[in-house]
Amino acid sequence: MIFPYPKEYESQELHTLMDSLGLFISHHEVFYTPPRGKLPIHVDHHKFSSQSPNMAKINWILDCTGGDMVWWEPKPGTPLKYHKTPIGTEYLMYEEDQVTEVYRAEIGESTFINAGVPHSIHNNTDAGRWCLSHNINYKSDRTKNILISEVPELFKKYVL
Ligand SMILES: [Fe+2]
Repeated sequence: MIFPYPKEYESQELHTLMDSLGLFISHHEVFYTPPRGKLPIHVDHHKFSSQSPNMAKINWILDCTGGDMVWWEPKPGTPLKYHKTPIGTEYLMYEEDQVTEVYRAEIGESTFINAGVPHSIHNNTDAGRWCLSHNINYKSDRTKNILISEVPELFKKYVL
């Protein structure tokens, strides 16, 4: 489930940090995965291209460890199927028989993830999983989101 980002959860420190790096948070939203539940396989970006499937986001997971993010590769010939979220953003959806698993990792606390390729969330716990998710764009080109490959250089002062 997707929810609007509560104003009181916005961090001025995060805005200031992004601004100092020539970046800004272009969009943010909240994802909820129920206990033992899944978020379906999707791509966040409405401009998905199989030539350049890449989009870094910062996800903050609140009080829940034991949730995996799984990344998938679409099988050849799978059509692009766009959907709209309740808050008006567009995304792509895939069924499990249209994709092959590529990688999975537990995502907790504050993590850069690639949301520009098909991915899903599997909550392996008995607690609801709340995720605050932030899209990051360049101030110099406000339509351009940062890529996962650019994260180590952009955030080298802060990321190991
Ligand atoms: Fe996503």
